[in-house]
Amino acid sequence: YVDKLPQMPKLYGYSRGHDGHSLEPGHLTIGMFQKKWKFHRNLPPTTVFAFGTSADTATVPGPTIEAMQGVPTYVTWQNQLPPSHILPWDSSIPTAISKNGGVPTVVHLHGGLHPSQSDGHPNAWFTANFRETGPAWSQQTYVYPNVHHSGNFWYHDHTLGLTRINLLAGLSGAYVIRDPLLDVKLNLPSGPEFDRHLMLSDKSFYNDGSLYMNRTGNVPSIHPQWQPEYFGDAITVNGKAWPYLQVQRRKYRFRIINTSNARYFSLSLTNRLSFTVVASDGSYLPSPITTQTIVLSPSEIADVVIDFSTTAANESLLNNAAPYPYPTGTSPDKLNGRVMKFIIQAGPSKPPDRSQIPSSLGSYTSASTAGASLTRYITLYEYQTASNQSTHLYINGKRFEDPVTETPKSGSTEVWEVINLTRDNHPLHLHLATFQVIKVQRLLDVNTFSNCMTSKNDAIACNITKQATGRTISVPAYEKTWKNTVKIEPGCKTTVVVKFNLVGKDEAPYPFDTTGSPGYVYHCHILDHEDNAMIRPMTMVA
Ligand code: C2O
Ligand code: CU
Repeated sequence: YVDKLPQMPKLYGYSRGHDGHSLEPGHLTIGMFQKKWKFHRNLPPTTVFAFGTSADTATVPGPTIEAMQGVPTYVTWQNQLPPSHILPWDSSIPTAISKNGGVPTVVHLHGGLHPSQSDGHPNAWFTANFRETGPAWSQQTYVYPNVHHSGNFWYHDHTLGLTRINLLAGLSGAYVIRDPLLDVKLNLPSGPEFDRHLMLSDKSFYNDGSLYMNRTGNVPSIHPQWQPEYFGDAITVNGKAWPYLQVQRRKYRFRIINTSNARYFSLSLTNRLSFTVVASDGSYLPSPITTQTIVLSPSEIADVVIDFSTTAANESLLNNAAPYPYPTGTSPDKLNGRVMKFIIQAGPSKPPDRSQIPSSLGSYTSASTAGASLTRYITLYEYQTASNQSTHLYINGKRFEDPVTETPKSGSTEVWEVINLTRDNHPLHLHLATFQVIKVQRLLDVNTFSNCMTSKNDAIACNITKQATGRTISVPAYEKTWKNTVKIEPGCKTTVVVKFNLVGKDEAPYPFDTTGSPGYVYHCHILDHEDNAMIRPMTMVA
């Protein structure tokens, strides 16, 4: 805990009109640059890929984009990267490969509702100066209408087969949609000092400071480099390994985003401090939930208030207890079990803390299967060698390139029954949708069901209705809101209510064209799984 927690620079996704009050759309140009970044005082500088408005000001993670609800933000994402990648990659998995030398990149706003041409489709990649573009590429400037209600999002690379290494290299950043009237009404801790992001990412380094990514796969005869999960020893927060933050004895708001490739976090605070969770990814909770532990899968977000006046201690550690892989892997050790340290100043806060935690927060429609237009069965598979070495992961037994099978109607609600036949938990993420888990139930006999699915690949024919009658597992109260990523328990059927392109009180589909090319995707957010190839296309129809 020797480095101070940085705050990422802020970029505003709107501008003020001539009258100084009215808000007008914002236009940003954000580049991706190769540069050196200091992750720890005692570690030599690391070569990274960083987002920013110039090479000098680019950061890891990238700048935080502040958008205003209902005011569009236009972003021209520019690739300024040199011809070759700083990390090893694997051409044996479906991968964007530049013919002329260049690092393919494309940016996705995670949780955003926007036209598919602005979605950062894995095949919409581009290399430096748009010299070469992928088959789904159509435009340089993306539009984010910011029609989602206020909440927490993030942006990151989404290139076919390179997402895991492009994020590890540094290509991610936070994005907030604000609703100023609601902010005033809620009166949560606010302003740059008391409302902060914590972007968590585990990384390993060589002694010379360079980022470590394995150069040999777990089954090199099939995949020379790919391994099923990347886990780093060092936990970085806002681009520093195990940083500290000096805080006053008062309430702070932290928007915690797990940007790791594969690591889950089970977070807790020492000295009897607790988290009061106010929002999850994308949406507020109906009312605040106080808890000692929060489990975050890759890409999940917890928006919490910590009240440092409730302890007499002068410090508190943020620790991690999540096994890796989650939930049955190795327990964290002294390094990856620690996240950061809060140093709590003596004496009362100056100025006095006038923020509060209101008793009710967001009011959205509740999740129910009533009104759903259809039910889909989505099954998660892991394929292994005879010696139990993982070779690839598929959804519904299909490759990414296989024809689209999920074609939801824009503005509809569906029920997704997600069946996890693997031993690990998988974070499921759908583009252009908000969703929540309403039920998690164990299968009675996973082996019998798996064997049947191996031959028939049809959940109904394999009697899922009879199978999914085991013990139910409760959903934590801090996850009971409209989310962008949900955890899928192994050996269970998870019932997810999904709303497509539909958020807010009016519940009307947003009036931008979401149908047509190149479409969207849904996938596992363990990036090593997503790359090989736990990802499927999804097309919206009118
Ligand atoms: Cu956060 Cu499709 O990704
Ligand atoms: Cu997965």
